[in-house]
Amino acid sequence: MKISKNMQKALNNQITLEASASNSYMAMASWCEVTGYEGGASFFYAQSDEERTHMLKFIHYLNNLGISAVIPATKSPASNFKSLESILKTALKNEQTVTTAIHKMVEISQKDKDHSTYAFLEWFVNEQVQEETKFETLIQKFELIGRDKIAINEIDKTLAATAAAPADATA
Ligand code: FEO
Repeated sequence: MKISKNMQKALNNQITLEASASNSYMAMASWCEVTGYEGGASFFYAQSDEERTHMLKFIHYLNNLGISAVIPATKSPASNFKSLESILKTALKNEQTVTTAIHKMVEISQKDKDHSTYAFLEWFVNEQVQEETKFETLIQKFELIGRDKIAINEIDKTLAATAAAPADATA
Protein backbone atom coordinates (compact mmCIF):
# COMPACT_ATOMS: atom_id res chain seq x y z
CA MET A 1 0.00 0.00 0.00
CA LYS A 2 1.21 3.48 -0.86
CA ILE A 3 0.88 6.69 1.04
CA SER A 4 1.76 10.13 -0.34
CA LYS A 5 5.16 11.78 0.18
CA ASN A 6 3.38 14.54 2.02
CA MET A 7 1.82 12.02 4.42
CA GLN A 8 5.16 10.24 4.92
CA LYS A 9 6.80 13.55 5.77
CA ALA A 10 4.08 14.44 8.26
CA LEU A 11 4.26 11.00 9.93
CA ASN A 12 8.04 11.24 10.23
CA ASN A 13 7.70 14.73 11.62
CA GLN A 14 5.31 13.33 14.22
CA ILE A 15 8.03 10.90 15.35
CA THR A 16 10.15 13.95 16.17
CA LEU A 17 7.29 15.62 18.04
CA GLU A 18 6.62 12.52 20.15
CA ALA A 19 10.36 12.05 20.85
CA SER A 20 10.64 15.70 21.90
CA ALA A 21 7.59 15.33 24.14
CA SER A 22 9.08 12.22 25.73
CA ASN A 23 12.37 14.04 26.44
CA SER A 24 10.64 17.14 27.63
CA TYR A 25 8.51 15.17 30.12
CA MET A 26 11.59 13.30 31.28
CA ALA A 27 13.31 16.64 32.02
CA MET A 28 10.19 17.74 33.93
CA ALA A 29 10.19 14.47 35.88
CA SER A 30 13.83 14.88 36.71
CA TRP A 31 13.27 18.46 37.94
CA CYS A 32 10.33 17.27 40.07
CA GLU A 33 12.43 14.47 41.51
CA VAL A 34 15.29 16.76 42.49
CA THR A 35 12.91 19.42 43.83
CA GLY A 36 11.04 17.00 46.09
CA TYR A 37 7.80 16.64 44.13
CA GLU A 38 7.56 12.86 44.24
CA GLY A 39 4.10 12.76 42.69
CA GLY A 40 5.14 15.08 39.88
CA ALA A 41 8.20 12.91 39.22
CA SER A 42 6.12 9.70 38.97
CA PHE A 43 3.56 11.45 36.82
CA PHE A 44 6.05 12.90 34.33
CA TYR A 45 8.21 9.77 34.11
CA ALA A 46 5.01 7.88 33.21
CA GLN A 47 4.09 10.62 30.69
CA SER A 48 7.53 10.34 29.15
CA ASP A 49 7.07 6.57 28.72
CA GLU A 50 3.66 7.17 27.17
CA GLU A 51 5.11 9.55 24.58
CA ARG A 52 7.75 6.98 23.71
CA THR A 53 4.93 4.49 23.10
CA HIS A 54 3.28 7.02 20.78
CA MET A 55 6.55 7.52 18.92
CA LEU A 56 6.87 3.75 18.44
CA LYS A 57 3.35 3.53 17.01
CA PHE A 58 4.37 5.95 14.24
CA ILE A 59 7.69 4.15 13.67
CA HIS A 60 5.93 0.77 13.35
CA TYR A 61 3.21 2.19 11.11
CA LEU A 62 5.73 3.55 8.61
CA ASN A 63 7.98 0.49 8.76
CA ASN A 64 5.03 -1.85 8.26
CA LEU A 65 4.22 0.05 5.08
CA GLY A 66 7.77 -0.56 3.89
CA ILE A 67 8.79 3.06 4.46
CA SER A 68 11.82 3.38 6.73
CA ALA A 69 10.97 5.57 9.69
CA VAL A 70 13.45 8.35 10.38
CA ILE A 71 14.76 8.28 13.95
CA PRO A 72 15.32 11.92 14.80
CA ALA A 73 17.82 13.93 16.78
CA THR A 74 15.97 16.18 19.17
CA LYS A 75 16.85 19.50 20.76
CA SER A 76 17.72 19.47 24.46
CA PRO A 77 14.55 20.16 26.42
CA ALA A 78 14.27 22.93 29.03
CA SER A 79 15.54 21.60 32.33
CA ASN A 80 14.94 24.41 34.77
CA PHE A 81 11.41 25.26 35.81
CA LYS A 82 9.68 27.84 37.97
CA SER A 83 7.01 25.74 39.63
CA LEU A 84 4.84 22.66 39.39
CA GLU A 85 2.07 24.83 37.97
CA SER A 86 4.30 26.29 35.25
CA ILE A 87 5.41 22.78 34.22
CA LEU A 88 1.82 21.62 33.85
CA LYS A 89 0.98 24.72 31.78
CA THR A 90 3.98 24.09 29.51
CA ALA A 91 2.90 20.46 29.15
CA LEU A 92 -0.64 21.51 28.17
CA LYS A 93 0.78 23.84 25.48
CA ASN A 94 2.88 20.95 24.22
CA GLU A 95 -0.18 18.70 24.00
CA GLN A 96 -2.06 21.44 22.12
CA THR A 97 0.79 21.58 19.58
CA VAL A 98 0.62 17.79 19.18
CA THR A 99 -3.16 17.94 18.73
CA THR A 100 -2.77 20.51 15.94
CA ALA A 101 -0.19 18.29 14.21
CA ILE A 102 -2.46 15.22 14.49
CA HIS A 103 -5.42 17.15 13.08
CA LYS A 104 -3.28 18.37 10.16
CA MET A 105 -2.35 14.76 9.37
CA VAL A 106 -6.01 13.76 9.45
CA GLU A 107 -6.68 16.52 6.91
CA ILE A 108 -3.87 15.25 4.68
CA SER A 109 -5.23 11.69 4.90
CA GLN A 110 -8.72 12.93 3.94
CA LYS A 111 -7.34 14.92 1.01
CA ASP A 112 -5.31 11.89 -0.14
CA LYS A 113 -8.27 9.50 0.37
CA ASP A 114 -5.74 7.53 2.44
CA HIS A 115 -8.17 5.45 4.47
CA SER A 116 -5.58 3.36 6.31
CA THR A 117 -3.69 6.35 7.68
CA TYR A 118 -7.00 8.00 8.51
CA ALA A 119 -7.99 4.92 10.55
CA PHE A 120 -4.55 4.74 12.18
CA LEU A 121 -4.81 8.37 13.29
CA GLU A 122 -8.21 7.97 14.90
CA TRP A 123 -6.66 6.55 18.09
CA PHE A 124 -4.44 9.64 18.36
CA VAL A 125 -7.35 12.03 17.85
CA ASN A 126 -9.12 10.47 20.85
CA GLU A 127 -5.91 10.25 22.86
CA GLN A 128 -5.30 13.99 22.45
CA VAL A 129 -8.77 14.81 23.81
CA GLN A 130 -7.93 12.77 26.91
CA GLU A 131 -4.46 14.26 27.25
CA GLU A 132 -5.62 17.86 27.04
CA THR A 133 -8.44 17.21 29.51
CA LYS A 134 -6.02 15.55 31.92
CA PHE A 135 -3.67 18.56 31.96
CA GLU A 136 -6.50 21.10 32.10
CA THR A 137 -8.00 19.32 35.11
CA LEU A 138 -4.65 19.23 36.90
CA ILE A 139 -4.04 22.94 36.22
CA GLN A 140 -7.52 23.78 37.58
CA LYS A 141 -6.47 22.33 40.94
CA PHE A 142 -4.30 25.39 41.61
CA GLU A 143 -7.41 27.59 41.43
CA LEU A 144 -9.48 25.13 43.46
CA ILE A 145 -7.02 24.13 46.18
CA GLY A 146 -4.55 27.02 46.15
CA ARG A 147 -0.86 27.68 45.77
CA ASP A 148 0.44 27.57 49.33
CA LYS A 149 2.75 24.77 50.47
CA ILE A 150 -0.04 22.54 51.78
CA ALA A 151 -2.07 22.98 48.59
CA ILE A 152 0.92 22.17 46.39
CA ASN A 153 1.62 19.08 48.48
CA GLU A 154 -1.99 17.97 47.90
CA ILE A 155 -1.64 18.56 44.16
CA ASP A 156 1.60 16.58 44.15
CA LYS A 157 -0.34 13.70 45.74
CA THR A 158 -2.96 14.00 42.99
CA LEU A 159 -0.18 13.72 40.42
CA ALA A 160 1.04 10.54 42.14
CA ALA A 161 -2.48 9.09 42.01
CA THR A 162 -2.87 10.07 38.35
CA ALA A 163 0.47 8.42 37.50
CA ALA A 164 -0.61 5.24 39.30
CA ALA A 165 -4.01 5.13 37.58
CA PRO A 166 -4.30 2.24 35.12
CA ALA A 167 -3.23 3.35 31.67
CA ASP A 168 -5.61 3.20 28.75
CA ALA A 169 -5.61 -0.47 27.79
CA THR A 170 -5.24 0.45 24.12
CA ALA A 171 -2.16 2.67 24.69
FE1 FEO B 1 1.84 11.85 22.21
FE2 FEO B 1 0.80 13.40 24.66
O1 FEO B 1 0.95 13.29 22.81
